[in-house]
Amino acid sequence: MCGIIGIVSGSKEDIVSSVIEGLSKLEYRGYDSAGIAVLSDGNLQRRRAVGKLENLENKLEEDPINGTVGIGHTRWATHGKPTEENAHPMMTKDVALVHNGIIENYKSLKDSLITQGYNFTSQTDTEVVAVYMQSCIDKGSSPREAFRQMLKVVEGTFAFVAIFKSVPNKIFCAKNKSPIVIGFGKNMCVGSDASSIAGNCDEVVYLSDGEYAEVTEHDAIFFDENFCEIKKERQKVTDDLINEGLGQYPHYMLKEIMEQPNAVRKTIVANEIPVDLLKNVSRILILACGTSYYAGMVARYWFEKYLKIPTNVEMASEYRYRFPVIENGTLVIGITQSGETIDTLEAMEYARSTNSNCRVLAISNVKNSAIARSADVVFYTEAGVEIGVASTKAFMAQLTVLAMIAFHDRPEVLNELRNFPNICDDILSSVNDEIENLAKNLYSAQSIIYLGRDSLYPIALEGALKLKEISYIHAEGFAAGEMKHGPIALIDDNLPVICLCPSCDVFDKMVSNIQIAKARGKNVIVFTDSIGNETFGDDFKKIVLPNICQECVPLAYVIPMQLLAYKVAVLKGEDVDKPRNLAKSVTVE
Ligand code: M6R
Repeated sequence: MCGIIGIVSGSKEDIVSSVIEGLSKLEYRGYDSAGIAVLSDGNLQRRRAVGKLENLENKLEEDPINGTVGIGHTRWATHGKPTEENAHPMMTKDVALVHNGIIENYKSLKDSLITQGYNFTSQTDTEVVAVYMQSCIDKGSSPREAFRQMLKVVEGTFAFVAIFKSVPNKIFCAKNKSPIVIGFGKNMCVGSDASSIAGNCDEVVYLSDGEYAEVTEHDAIFFDENFCEIKKERQKVTDDLINEGLGQYPHYMLKEIMEQPNAVRKTIVANEIPVDLLKNVSRILILACGTSYYAGMVARYWFEKYLKIPTNVEMASEYRYRFPVIENGTLVIGITQSGETIDTLEAMEYARSTNSNCRVLAISNVKNSAIARSADVVFYTEAGVEIGVASTKAFMAQLTVLAMIAFHDRPEVLNELRNFPNICDDILSSVNDEIENLAKNLYSAQSIIYLGRDSLYPIALEGALKLKEISYIHAEGFAAGEMKHGPIALIDDNLPVICLCPSCDVFDKMVSNIQIAKARGKNVIVFTDSIGNETFGDDFKKIVLPNICQECVPLAYVIPMQLLAYKVAVLKGEDVDKPRNLAKSVTVE
């Protein structure tokens, strides 16, 4: 969380606009406040603003700055409210610093600096790092020494980008757990991800944990944790890193929902399941968070039912803290859109460190992400850059890879999967108006329940998550059979109940559960197919989807759930792509 950027340029012309452009591509990581600092002729200057980047842009228009080196930050608040004082860059007399991560020992460092007479103007952990470097300079250290001394004392997660008043045209950056990419091109640049700097460079270097770099106008030098110079391999910037913008769409979320047929197509073409992937695998352990976790839940139904491999799906944030045992023969699968969710990364590392015999597979949408680099095997989902905070096409692509694994030896299902992009197109065009009407019916609801069984249960959870994260309506997904054990008490005529009921193995059971709900509340909405259409009378609100093979129903039924959440949020006037309190990539525990 938090997006950071740094650019070293020979000229003063465009540094501010280049930093702002980079930040605009990183806003998905946080948008509580934004700030920029530049160095010009030995002067550090800074502008900061609360809220989205446009507020900072307005401020810069009223009160411009320029320089030959600049750093910028878009914040997702951890320590201290989203105020201007707490916005980055943190600046002292001699240094300006932006940070992504959490400094765990900030309190003891701060107490010691206060004892030495230093003052603080923010509640952030980051300011401590800037002030610590200032204290080193005050004691006679050079900027390089101050940066290195700081790296020796800070504990926690960080990506730092710093500029020093006395060092023209140089950026210092370092990483532990939070990502940093260095770009080589027309300008030298540094960013939280490759796509934020892709427009400025042709090649990138991914910094690893413990490493730091000094980036100058035409080059960069890299150091390991002992500050010995090291060589790093450069990688070409590829087209998939480029965010092509909104095009004809009003929001990224809608654009990304509509891109799902292509995401499935490209993911199928790009991946081949190695014949020995499941050789000697006696158990599968899936680790993920949020929407990716729900993709894992779907996969569990598939892996157990069709591959007959016992499968656990674990919320990565909970997993390692209960010190689980990992059996020999376990295949660990980490699922992640961003490839940098710290909970997932740490859970995967825990699994590997507990049993070095287990193989670790990552399913990631971001090439060379931390999680992709940490795994033994990687399958990349080819959803393309996903900007909307609410994940849609990445989820679809994750399900595609997981289905390819589950059905690798069932050509008839793989054929259905290859045809799924056409079904996906059909659904997108056929349900749009009905979903629009349903959204009008639901957008003033206080709370909504989603019900599903079997592989549609995770889709009920996903539908509820999509709705709550962008429309702020309370929503909960339940396993339909579990309703009668408690949650049914919630149902009355005012509570909309959305039921996912394709005609598959558990159809009859699901029909009974829906009847039971209908007997207690009048606002029951059923998503079903032609068989369900005949089964449920006209007193039910129904949205009828095409008949689809049972294995592909989770992929199909999530589409109207995404559209519904999107349309409800738009009707409510919410900021769909940047919902409150959230960030796309979650790099704090
Ligand atoms: O990048 P990841 O897939 O690891 O992210 C996991 C979750 O943070 C993410 O899916 C989150 O739940 C989304 N906002 C859901 O739309």
